[in-house]
Amino acid sequence: MTENINLNLQNIIRQDIIDSPAYQVHSSIGMIKLDAMENPFILPENLQKGLAQHLSVVHLNRYPSPEDYQTSVDIIRNYADIHSDLDILLGNGSDEIISMLANLIPDNSYILALSPSFVMYKASADIARLNFISIDLKSDDFNLDLEGMKNAIQKYNPRLIYLAYPNNPTGACFSKNDIDEIIKFAPNSLIIIDEAYQAFTNNKTYMSSLPDIIKQYPNILVMRTLSKIGLAGLRLGYIAGHKQIIQQLNKVRPPYNINVLTQASIEFLLSIQENIDTLNMQAQIICQQRIIMAEKLDEFGKVFNSDANFLLIRMNKDANIVQNKLKEAGILVKNVSNMHKNLHNCLRISIGTLEENNKLLEWLKKIKVIVNI
Ligand SMILES: Cc1ncc(COP(=O)(O)O)c(C=O)c1O
Repeated sequence: MTENINLNLQNIIRQDIIDSPAYQVHSSIGMIKLDAMENPFILPENLQKGLAQHLSVVHLNRYPSPEDYQTSVDIIRNYADIHSDLDILLGNGSDEIISMLANLIPDNSYILALSPSFVMYKASADIARLNFISIDLKSDDFNLDLEGMKNAIQKYNPRLIYLAYPNNPTGACFSKNDIDEIIKFAPNSLIIIDEAYQAFTNNKTYMSSLPDIIKQYPNILVMRTLSKIGLAGLRLGYIAGHKQIIQQLNKVRPPYNINVLTQASIEFLLSIQENIDTLNMQAQIICQQRIIMAEKLDEFGKVFNSDANFLLIRMNKDANIVQNKLKEAGILVKNVSNMHKNLHNCLRISIGTLEENNKLLEWLKKIKVIVNI
């Protein structure tokens, strides 16, 4: 249906918004979904039932109360073992926290990130009409270019620096020495260590040392999400840091941003140890599968080291053909080849269930024969 709206959008809406594409989320009904770094496991039946019962008595007629929000903060503090010297803010996914952070810094200032890295860092800068600068990761191993970062910090004085630890889409954690150097070098920037994939890192984190770090560097914050541990649908991210910074961030947090169903869900799932154990167990299975998949995928290209729930692989031949053939077979993977010149021929593949992983390998073998890659 073509709609004739009697409205001159150019007169009303920012031209850069009109010119920009919307964030694309593709339909995946009936597909094996290995393209979005989700946990492939659903909740076991006993948890589903317990959760349903817990949610059935939630008062949907009321806005979430400040007490409910505080209860959620306390649950996250216990669950993630966040020290009482740190304050915590919750977001509707860490995506929302990234938008809030962009609203916190002055007009015309810079956000600095690495490239390739999580796309929302740049998107948040564009939407908030801030400047964005990114420094390429090293082309061979996707490590951090420390000199490049230091030069950019000196030149642009960014108010916000993002370090994804581990990085998406490359998968590995940067060297701690490099991150520590950046921390020392940028005392005038908010540095966000984005630990979205922390559950798969074998305990690599800045969260536990953050109370000590902020004594000298109060500008450091650590952000995480529940999305990768099996709760992507809840949309809950959190950021921890110095009380005074979290206090300012709270001023740009939309009221009631965490809905009552999400709050009640985490009350059930994350304040009962048995339920946490179930989620932890799923993360462990994903880590074990990652090791197996890294070995098996080696036949099809160069597999990069990963501390996350996905693998980046440079295909031996054409990643576009492989992606399309997989799609025809009902398997979605992310083709990141066009995201950055250093990612040519690269696919990012989430770790699925054993069955999904085997299906992927089976089809890659078939495709290898068909298209001779
Ligand atoms: C590095 C990184 N940070 C943050 C996010 C966003 O997570 P959320 O689902 O909490 O918005 C992602 C999602 O893929 C990510 O890769």
